[in-house]
Amino acid sequence: EAAEKAGYEHFMLKEIHEQPTSIQDTYAGKIFELEGKVILDELKMDEDQLRSLQRVTIIACGTSWNAGCVGKYLFERLAGIHTDIETASEFRYGEPVLCGQVFTLAITQSGETADTLAAIRSSRSYGCKAAAITNVVGSTITRETDSVLFTRAGPEIGVAATKTFTAQLIVLYLMAIHMGTVRGRLSPETAREILVGIKQLPGQVQKILNNKDAIKACAEHYANVQDYFFIGRHLNYPVSLEGALKLKEISYIHAEGYAAGELKHGPLALLSSETPVVAIATKGHTYDKVLSNIKEVKARSAEVIAVANQSDTEIDKYVDTVLRIPDCHELLAPVLSSVVLQLLAYYTAYARGCSIDKPRNLAKSVTVE
Ligand code: G6P
Repeated sequence: EAAEKAGYEHFMLKEIHEQPTSIQDTYAGKIFELEGKVILDELKMDEDQLRSLQRVTIIACGTSWNAGCVGKYLFERLAGIHTDIETASEFRYGEPVLCGQVFTLAITQSGETADTLAAIRSSRSYGCKAAAITNVVGSTITRETDSVLFTRAGPEIGVAATKTFTAQLIVLYLMAIHMGTVRGRLSPETAREILVGIKQLPGQVQKILNNKDAIKACAEHYANVQDYFFIGRHLNYPVSLEGALKLKEISYIHAEGYAAGELKHGPLALLSSETPVVAIATKGHTYDKVLSNIKEVKARSAEVIAVANQSDTEIDKYVDTVLRIPDCHELLAPVLSSVVLQLLAYYTAYARGCSIDKPRNLAKSVTVE
């Protein structure tokens, strides 16, 4: 096992460090940035089918659900397709209004999650075409769907998903850009800009990994609190959910991810100097709104840790700690912010002496209901 960890103390830390490679392997051969184009033959949908697509329903659990939530925003913004994100365990017993025009997309790193498989079978019984994003060749989901898009993250041993999550995001970017260009929603120039940005991600993730000491120090500083909040808007909302999920899974600290605009509808009542709030405050159209939320939080004496872009010096005035990500296209920030939050969770759990690779009561893949 020590050899498999390649010198890292835990699989999770090794897998976090593999992300420059897993991201690159996942987009390799698919991006043609000079033409502003993505080639995604695996989707097995021709241009006419993509143009007539009315609705996508994404189905997933856990971390894959959080990736799907990012996917919803991307599909709507870049491809102009109405997209729902469904929790598999709810969907399978719901009464979905589906028809053959709806395209369902399962996201499951293992390809074996019982609820996701059942939900996809149910959607297909309505005549929906189904695709899957998975990390495991030969997994059950690959036999239950019409097409499969593989993440190429390699085996993930740590129970807490890390590299498979960022690889899922990459596939979702590629799908959104592909659908958006075919549907005429996205100009080749804008597509090119994002595609060039995707190719910069491995180097940018590496930069975060090279400067992880600040994240470690922050984790240690707050390692003994009982509650943590994570807030964000738009694409950063699912990032906040994922940050909270990672932290609670491996450090056993109660953590909640919240849409920043929803704070006033409940969680503000829980804030105090004992509840650090991580604000995902990367540059984008909701930046100013998140800044206002940070001020609300500070007014309740809570300490704020911001995840912000390198060049954002403004934010320092309002928060207690800033964890930086390199400047990037605003839509791509979730990949970089997530790496920061994975490290925050890892070092918090480490400081608390937790069983990082095998957290209590959790399994890597939940193949029973
Ligand atoms: C388990 C794992 C999570 C994972 C979830 C969904 O709860 O511990 O890390 O996100 O299952 O798994 P899937 O394989 O469907 O992505």
